[in-house]
Amino acid sequence: MPFNHNDHYHPLLLRQVPARARTALDVGCGTGKFTRKLAATGLAVEGIDPAREAIEAACATSPGKITYRCEDVTRAGLPEGHYDFISCLAALHHMPFETVTKLRRALAPGGVLAVLGLALPSSARDLGKWLLAAPLLNVPARLVVAAGDRLNGGGDHVAVAPVRDPDLSMAEVRRGSATLLPGSTVRTLLFWRYLLVYRAG
Ligand SMILES: C[S@@+](CC[C@H](N)C(=O)[O-])C[C@H]1O[C@@H](n2cnc3c(N)ncnc32)[C@H](O)[C@@H]1O
Repeated sequence: MPFNHNDHYHPLLLRQVPARARTALDVGCGTGKFTRKLAATGLAVEGIDPAREAIEAACATSPGKITYRCEDVTRAGLPEGHYDFISCLAALHHMPFETVTKLRRALAPGGVLAVLGLALPSSARDLGKWLLAAPLLNVPARLVVAAGDRLNGGGDHVAVAPVRDPDLSMAEVRRGSATLLPGSTVRTLLFWRYLLVYRAG
């Protein structure tokens, strides 16, 4: 797949990093594509993912700069009040939604949790975006990215991170966020994703 919908939103996610952030955790980091971008901004970054093959690929492409943990975040020990930024890209639907409570507790004061999530559509607005607009725009976007990849000598499309379909609907994500992450915002994005942002008080 030349046009990766998760990678497309990396710039949007990087814009959620607080100005004076120093520490970050990338949950469900997979092969570390976004983790490396976080580290490139100068943050001290940890990536966590239980998929050994993905973590090995991540370590091979980020020598020394990032601490990778081959662990299930729901069981892992996370320091409370520690991280200035926690990202979770296309991974929250692999675990119970309630995991956000653990991630919230791991945020330092003023820290931000940014989730790029997948969910089932539950409103006319979601359906309009994901059944009508997204498929139409996906085709030219794929062509543009594929052409760019060819010009750059080929893309980096080796996918070894596990994938799965979401179970929760957008309505359930909004309800869960309102309950577990008071003050958070949830926005439906164009390419079959949502953005959940929570800032710790
Ligand atoms: C679709 S991949 C996304 C990988 C990466 N974030 C990206 O955007 O390319 C989902 C990742 O979530 C990871 N994952 C699943 N359950 C997890 C858990 N309990 N704790 C941490 N990561 C988990 C999977 O191993 C997989 O690498």
